[in-house]
Amino acid sequence: MIFGIGLANHLYTSTVARMIQTRDIKLVGIVGSGIMGSGIAEVVSRAGMDVVVCSRAEQTAHATRSAIEKSLANKLSKAKISQEQMDTAMSHVYVTSKIEDLANCDLVIESAIEDLTTKQRLFVELDKVVKLSCVLTTNTSTLPVIEMARSTNRPDKVCGIHFFNPAVIMPLVEIIRPITASDETIALANAFVATCGKDGVQVADRAGFIVNALLFPYLNNAIAMLEAGTASMEDIDTAMKGGCNFPMGPFALLDLVGLDTSVSILEALYSEFKSSNLEPRPTLRKLVEQGKLGRKSKQGFYNY
Ligand code: 3HC
Repeated sequence: MIFGIGLANHLYTSTVARMIQTRDIKLVGIVGSGIMGSGIAEVVSRAGMDVVVCSRAEQTAHATRSAIEKSLANKLSKAKISQEQMDTAMSHVYVTSKIEDLANCDLVIESAIEDLTTKQRLFVELDKVVKLSCVLTTNTSTLPVIEMARSTNRPDKVCGIHFFNPAVIMPLVEIIRPITASDETIALANAFVATCGKDGVQVADRAGFIVNALLFPYLNNAIAMLEAGTASMEDIDTAMKGGCNFPMGPFALLDLVGLDTSVSILEALYSEFKSSNLEPRPTLRKLVEQGKLGRKSKQGFYNY
């Protein structure tokens, strides 16, 4: 059951040709209601498209809607948006705990945990429930998009659409092209990203794409520097902010990204490039084992 109103409007059948000609994406599905899923849903709703967020449980589905409402209310209180803009955005947001409710989506963004088996299982399910014209995408940070494409009967309609954290703020989106993706799929992804008001870049399907392939060796080296006793994490963060004009130091950024996600990203990079400085540092693994996952668990390198 979908929670929201007006979804019947979307019970239309749209042909692939019509969709690609008009770049007409009316209904977007998001699978996963974590920090990224919820942030992307806010971006999509503010861009004027309807969005259904599919969470694993009804309770978390409702919590996602509340999180989006809270984020918009925060912008309203700072006079960054009007009450009307907030109400309009919220009228676009639907939540569900049933994947079948994504049946009429024109585009789906899978935003579940960074685990290939989980993602492949979701792609198999999505492929069965969504209409034939629907483009299936993943917000993976590093995993091979081709492996998800191959789990479906529509590999030409699968690509990566990678938002950055916090999705509402960060302007960049990477559009990842597996060798199976058609030109139409990539054109649709480009059009969607532009409609979201983001800057799209295109990248081949190689672990880490552009940003994480360059960012994570740096983050892992910062932990190695801390382990070697070269400087404290506070001083390393201060140094990289003051010395490079980065908005955050490496430890604050690791906490923002999530330490479990960081381990997954480094493991994927290591398995592809086999460089020793990509092996997740022992301190990072230890924090994850202790359940200290960064901001989301209120403890990581720093306490929140
Ligand atoms: N979610 C939503 N909005 C947030 C936010 C969050 N987590 N954190 C801050 N904001 C908003 C604030 O509300 C504020 O909005 P306003 O201007 O409308 O009031 C605005 O961002 C600025 O916030 P602050 O003044 O409190 O703080 P900063 O100026 O320090 O900005 C930041 C915060 C935008 C997070 C900035 O520090 C930054 O850009 N950090 C780098 C983030 C980054 O590098 N992200 C990429 C990570 S890698 C990744 O995502 C890839 C993935 O695959 C792992």
